[in-house]
Amino acid sequence: MDYMAKTSADIDRMPRGGPDASCLDRLLETDRPEYLDRDSDDPADAARKRSVIRALEFTGELFGSTERFAEIALAEIEDVADPEILELGAGHGGLSRKLLDWHPTARLTVTDVDEAAVAAMAAGDLGHDPRATVRRMDATRIDAPDSSFDLAVFAQSFHHLPPSQAARVFAEGTRVAHRLVIIDLPRPPSPIHLARLASMLPFAPLLPFAHDGVISSLRTYSPSALRALAAYADPAIEIDLRGGPLSPQIVVARRGGADASRSGDQR
Ligand SMILES: C[S@@+](CC[C@H](N)C(=O)[O-])C[C@H]1O[C@@H](n2cnc3c(N)ncnc32)[C@H](O)[C@@H]1O
Repeated sequence: MDYMAKTSADIDRMPRGGPDASCLDRLLETDRPEYLDRDSDDPADAARKRSVIRALEFTGELFGSTERFAEIALAEIEDVADPEILELGAGHGGLSRKLLDWHPTARLTVTDVDEAAVAAMAAGDLGHDPRATVRRMDATRIDAPDSSFDLAVFAQSFHHLPPSQAARVFAEGTRVAHRLVIIDLPRPPSPIHLARLASMLPFAPLLPFAHDGVISSLRTYSPSALRALAAYADPAIEIDLRGGPLSPQIVVARRGGADASRSGDQR
């Protein structure tokens, strides 16, 4: 029987390594915000944010993760003729751009909670694409009616949220979309995790991307934590966890019995 938190205080006390986290794993976490989480008027913070977003877009293309994430997303809607897709936490919009390129009739709602990120995406090619709508949206309070989308996808962003907010993404994502795909960093076993952190730490004071990478790694949820978050959000949410201890974690979530597409006749 999976761990079941009863209150938001319970779930917020859960370690990122999950209810069964080892003592060492419990030490490998932090409340320190990433540059991407800072909401300040300081132009230096804004410049660091932009630099992290640019680096994410660049490395996603360079190492093929944007393509891999697009393949994962499209596999979930392969039987839907004209899918409506919601991207949450899109940042730079690279994943939405790939989905529009690869699927000739998909419509994308491309969103992020950060005003500056949304403005930058709206000013670029996504803002002029007739099959894309770019708008601000908080993944924990999605401003859309139930079952508006075939798929919602939240890539490399889930770890930004504390547990009670992260659970809201499960609730909201499966409310507005038939399937919610969360893709996030792996949380490796503690000795490997320590070695990975040690290799990144020297660069953290120098490179905003490395700074945020170290914090992301410490804040990533383990598979047991992901299960506990989904169960806390709603026991009716079923999740399928994929990925290995060193490759991105992929969570496909849906409400029990909610496998029909938006219109119910496209599959
Ligand atoms: C590490 S970036 C990931 C960007 C992009 N998805 C990628 O894979 O490269 C995390 C993004 O999540 C966004 N974010 C954080 N909290 C959010 C929330 N509550 N709702 C929507 N987006 C959020 C941040 O603004 C940021 O753009």
